[in-house]
Amino acid sequence: MQNLSGKVVFVTGGSRGIGAAIAKRLAAEGAQVAITYVNAVQKADEVVSAIEANGGRAIALQADNQDEAAISAAVDEAARVLGKIDILVNNAGVFDVAPINDLTIDKFDRTMDINVRAVFVAVKSALLHMPEGGRIITIGSNLAKHVPWPGFSLYSMSKSALIGMTLGLARDLGDRSITANIIHPGPTNTDMNPADGQMSDAQRGLMAIPHYSQPEDTAGLIAWLAGPEARVVTGAEFTVDSGVNA
Ligand SMILES: NC(=O)c1ccc[n+]([C@@H]2O[C@H](COP(=O)([O-])OP(=O)(O)OC[C@H]3O[C@@H](n4cnc5c(N)ncnc54)[C@H](OP(=O)(O)O)[C@@H]3O)[C@@H](O)[C@H]2O)c1
Repeated sequence: MQNLSGKVVFVTGGSRGIGAAIAKRLAAEGAQVAITYVNAVQKADEVVSAIEANGGRAIALQADNQDEAAISAAVDEAARVLGKIDILVNNAGVFDVAPINDLTIDKFDRTMDINVRAVFVAVKSALLHMPEGGRIITIGSNLAKHVPWPGFSLYSMSKSALIGMTLGLARDLGDRSITANIIHPGPTNTDMNPADGQMSDAQRGLMAIPHYSQPEDTAGLIAWLAGPEARVVTGAEFTVDSGVNA
């Protein structure tokens, strides 16, 4: 099955976790892939090597989501090397959980820069290289819609901001047949939220199906959203969270 032959994908934060699974899955569907990372150069190289070992093509570019110029430069470089950007996946994110009294303005700025401002920058940069029928897929969180415990005001705000951006983009870009959608993962087994972490049993207690997601669960939905069957799906939210928000 090669749904994405001839397509080029740009995935932010593709060195680990959900982003790495997305990069590998879309490459397996035939797409050429560019990923960004901030620190984990070795992990990013491993993702590229895994894709190349399967006969695909991938590049890794360092771009801190806090650095507007670096994001634009990485998008431009990916388009220069791979020819265009058909599919942008806004995945990179940080998770700063603390009671409101412990959240400083510096923490606010960091989370909003990485989780929200960088998405705005990446979208504007990618659109310069995106042909008709392109895709913008953003990773939100089920915590954008439901907050079961204290401590999430900043993170949840950053992820719910992406819902509004997605709805607006769907309206802005429909005349180019470019779709914009958002996926809300729930507890997913990554470095950010390991399935054997301190809070994992408490999270399992909220689930209808008491299993953590694997990064590949979200990657599978993205493969469909990026493919031809989803050409009229836009402005939509999808939740992949074992029923936490049910
Ligand atoms: N895991 C969950 O339970 C869960 C649930 C809901 C939503 N999400 C969302 O899913 C997305 C991916 O999460 P994950 O669990 O895969 O996280 P992760 O395992 O911590 O991986 C984060 C990825 O983002 C990159 N990144 C972090 N800060 C960055 C920055 N300043 N600039 C550019 N890249 C940066 C990392 O690069 P380096 O490797 O170079 O550090 C890495 O590739 C995030 O948006 C997160 O909020 C996760």
